[in-house]
Amino acid sequence: MISIQEDDPQRVDVIEPDTVNLVQITDCHIFDSPDKKLMGLNTRRSFEAVKTAVAGAAQRHDLLLATGDLSQDGSAGSYRYLAQQLDDLGIPGFWLPGNHDDPELMPRHLTGNSLHPAKRVLAGSWQIVLLDSTIAGEVHGRVPDSQLTFMDAALRQYPDRHALVCLHHQALETGSEWIDLKGLRDAARLRSRMAQHDNIRAVIWGHVHQESHQSVAGVEWMSTPSSCVQFKPGSREFATSDESPGYRQIRLHADGSLETVVHRIENFEFDID
Ligand SMILES: [Fe+2]
Repeated sequence: MISIQEDDPQRVDVIEPDTVNLVQITDCHIFDSPDKKLMGLNTRRSFEAVKTAVAGAAQRHDLLLATGDLSQDGSAGSYRYLAQQLDDLGIPGFWLPGNHDDPELMPRHLTGNSLHPAKRVLAGSWQIVLLDSTIAGEVHGRVPDSQLTFMDAALRQYPDRHALVCLHHQALETGSEWIDLKGLRDAARLRSRMAQHDNIRAVIWGHVHQESHQSVAGVEWMSTPSSCVQFKPGSREFATSDESPGYRQIRLHADGSLETVVHRIENFEFDID
């Protein structure tokens, strides 16, 4: 069940199952043109394969998180396409921008019956907080004071709720020099601010187009494959990987623990330039 309030991005939406099953889709890089490709891959085709897998999953999904670079060209058409596709899925969906996105066009066009602009979600015994780590015109990111203050206030308002924080850029370095240079410039500052809260259980992001999962100081830190092109883990210089597009499922339990699994699309044939 989801309660819809005023059209205010600071608002809180509420979902009430005991255990929350969520799906994270990220870095879809959709173009305005249906025919355009990213490094030889048609990103609408790969996104639709991910969508089909999510729709066919055995597990119900209580909510969907789309963690940026949803568009490649920041076009209204790319957001309208995504809105239609995500509305088809029918899972209450929440989004945040990535470096390729247009944060002004997103709230205007990435709307629909199941899509919500809220940046805080109360779900089961959890609170989900969505941060904006983008800097206009830059690939790298940073979390400005205003977003840190937003996070602090949200977490302090519900100190007894477990928290999942989402952003686009990597909160932990990947070890790939090229992409860490294009990552979050003030990641250490974000992490030390997070450490002031004892209710953060997990942090998830996109941007790096690869799966990772580390447990550090009682927090699960996770990146998720793109729904299109994958980047090669551990590579010093830019390199793609031939792994398939994917997405992540996370099951948030009432005691603050979680289970998670990354799914790759099977039988998806593609060539990367
Ligand atoms: Fe991306």
